[in-house]
Amino acid sequence: MELNDTIRTYRLFSGSYDFVFGPVFHPGRKAAVRIANDRPGQRILEVGVGTGLSLPYFRPDSRVVGIDVSAEMLERAKRRAARLKLSHVEGLHLMDAENLEFPDNAFDAVLALYVASVVPNPARFAAEMRRVCMPGGTIVIVNHFLSDNILLHFIEKRLAPLARHIGFHPDFPLDAFRRESGLSIREERPSNLFGYWKLLRCVNEKRAAVH
Ligand SMILES: C[S@@+](CC[C@H](N)C(=O)[O-])C[C@H]1O[C@@H](n2cnc3c(N)ncnc32)[C@H](O)[C@@H]1O
Repeated sequence: MELNDTIRTYRLFSGSYDFVFGPVFHPGRKAAVRIANDRPGQRILEVGVGTGLSLPYFRPDSRVVGIDVSAEMLERAKRRAARLKLSHVEGLHLMDAENLEFPDNAFDAVLALYVASVVPNPARFAAEMRRVCMPGGTIVIVNHFLSDNILLHFIEKRLAPLARHIGFHPDFPLDAFRRESGLSIREERPSNLFGYWKLLRCVNEKRAAVH
């Protein structure tokens, strides 16, 4: 899926997104935020923040930055932050996850919720998350991956050609993502309804720069 397809699809989805993908995805959002936001005063990046449904769950003493490539989704996140007076939200920026405009090691933790199977190049997306996260920091990904269940696997493969229209790749394979992302995955747990999604807790294993 090209970036332009994503921008077009999420422009169309933005009005109905909270209704369709709100509460049903909340368990994964809450679990991810709880992991990434476990200490006071952390600076946290959420990649593909969408309409900002996760923002109310961060602790008030954190500083949260969100980015998204869809202006319409981001506008809703901005309105949510203003309406709920979320003073821990440091900024919400229009930005491509594969070209983050932040310096190296800028965040204590980085999250991406339901984004990994949307971006055009998941390896590049993961590399950018590792770059901006400090060494030893936490990276949390929640996503649906291609199912092991024969029937679901078959359906997801059949839906794959529709990715441009439905806004994600239903046949996104975890094995390839594990290999290509370079992420050090410490825990994989089922998430949301029927455990159909997975939460990946990773530790950013890159070395600290020596000066
Ligand atoms: C399925 S939505 C998830 C939104 C939000 N994380 C949530 O929990 O509901 C995927 C989001 O990723 C954004 N996105 C997709 N590709 C992106 C990219 N390359 N850079 C930044 N955001 C991207 C989309 O615009 C959309 O808002």
